[in-house]
Amino acid sequence: MPRLVVISNRVADPRKPAAGGLAVAVGESLQQSGGLWFGWSGTIVEDGPTGEGELHKHQAGKVMLATLDLSREDHDAYYLGYSNNVLWPVFHDRLDLANFEAGYIGGYRRVNQLFARKLLPLLRDDDILWVHDYHLIPLAAELRAMGCRQRIGFFLHIPLPPQIIMAAIPQHEWLMRSLFAYDVIGFQANQDVQHFERYVLNEANGESLGHDMFRAWGNTVRASAFPIGIDVDEFEALTQAKDARDMYTTMKDEYSKRRLLLGIDRLDYSKGIPQRVRAFRELLAHYPENRRSATLIQIASPTREDVNAYGDIRRELESLCGAINGDYGELDWMPVRYIHRMVARKRVPGLCRAAAVGLVTPLRDGMNLVAKEYVVAQDPEDPGVLVLSRFAGAAEQLKEALLVNPYDTHGTAETVQQALQMPLEERRARHKKLLQRIREQDVHWWRKTFLQALNDAPRDAG
Ligand code: G6P
Repeated sequence: MPRLVVISNRVADPRKPAAGGLAVAVGESLQQSGGLWFGWSGTIVEDGPTGEGELHKHQAGKVMLATLDLSREDHDAYYLGYSNNVLWPVFHDRLDLANFEAGYIGGYRRVNQLFARKLLPLLRDDDILWVHDYHLIPLAAELRAMGCRQRIGFFLHIPLPPQIIMAAIPQHEWLMRSLFAYDVIGFQANQDVQHFERYVLNEANGESLGHDMFRAWGNTVRASAFPIGIDVDEFEALTQAKDARDMYTTMKDEYSKRRLLLGIDRLDYSKGIPQRVRAFRELLAHYPENRRSATLIQIASPTREDVNAYGDIRRELESLCGAINGDYGELDWMPVRYIHRMVARKRVPGLCRAAAVGLVTPLRDGMNLVAKEYVVAQDPEDPGVLVLSRFAGAAEQLKEALLVNPYDTHGTAETVQQALQMPLEERRARHKKLLQRIREQDVHWWRKTFLQALNDAPRDAG
């Protein structure tokens, strides 16, 4: 059995709770197979030299963690700058938030080269490498330039934008060309593969060879959708455990006369949280029977606070929640409970189970694992209803959810009303189908199918 080497910007001890879909899913995959997990240590060295960083090694159960410190200058250009001020907004269709500051790209390349240089001596000949997410697109090209011959796969956790939006990035061609140094590219959804194909054909003058094989710049690569899943058994066990049960009981007691609507997200502009709160306001305005009876709990965990756009969304949301509570609140009822903190993972299932409606309404999202967790946490005899954005990758799989366009405030409010009124039989039937699909394509299925594809890939790439 070849050893699995996972490389991602964010590395987390797989035995501890983590925020964000990547850390959770990758941690769960590695926990199964064991191997090496390489990435940033989370430490920023003020005044440290650029392109350098100390390497730390630490055994966490079956997984060896190898992490690198980054200098302030590298971190700011690579992580805050190119990754989160260019790639994240553009890949989520937000050209208006992108800052194409010229200095960022240098830091991005430098850190990818640093990762390659520090990783190379740790590799064994029969290792299989799996690189994750937008921070590390050029990593395989850098590794190949240093002589690395192992199989390398890449998985993009966020969406790939349409060709015309991608083309706005000054270095778009270099980025897309870098992808052809991998043996397999994994996307979350079929739509991402279609965007990739259009780019290859129209922008790169490449070819589609059929069976998900693409050729451009003299290289061939396989690019397919591998929708990421959750560990259903683990999440079910978490739902049955004491912390989640206590949370459920507390919520049921506290809100015994009310219906709960729940949103759990990182406080990111891609998640559509202000639009969701506005839709809730519309619900109260148009369906007054929900006043005093429906409460929206919105948990928005802090994230990337050093990036300007994240400060803006925080202020917008605070004033929106204040306004709706001021306009509609009563002495014994506040319409919105907004919590700007991370909630302990072991309590999440209890919270989900107590909610009659799960609101997962991002403006754009690669997949969204909260949608899957919400479904798994439900009582199959009396399940809540998932309201899901059609712009989340999860919408390709979770067709029995109520799909909404989050930009359409009125339409979303109407759908939430439909969710609140859905008869028990229909709720059960939809939940059953959703759960079945989430179980079939869980995180283990994701890991196995991706690694199988990587193993089977013809070796003429790179
Ligand atoms: C998303 C991204 C991940 C990222 C996570 C948390 O899930 O796809 O790559 O790790 O958000 O964001 P952060 O910037 O804190 O790593």
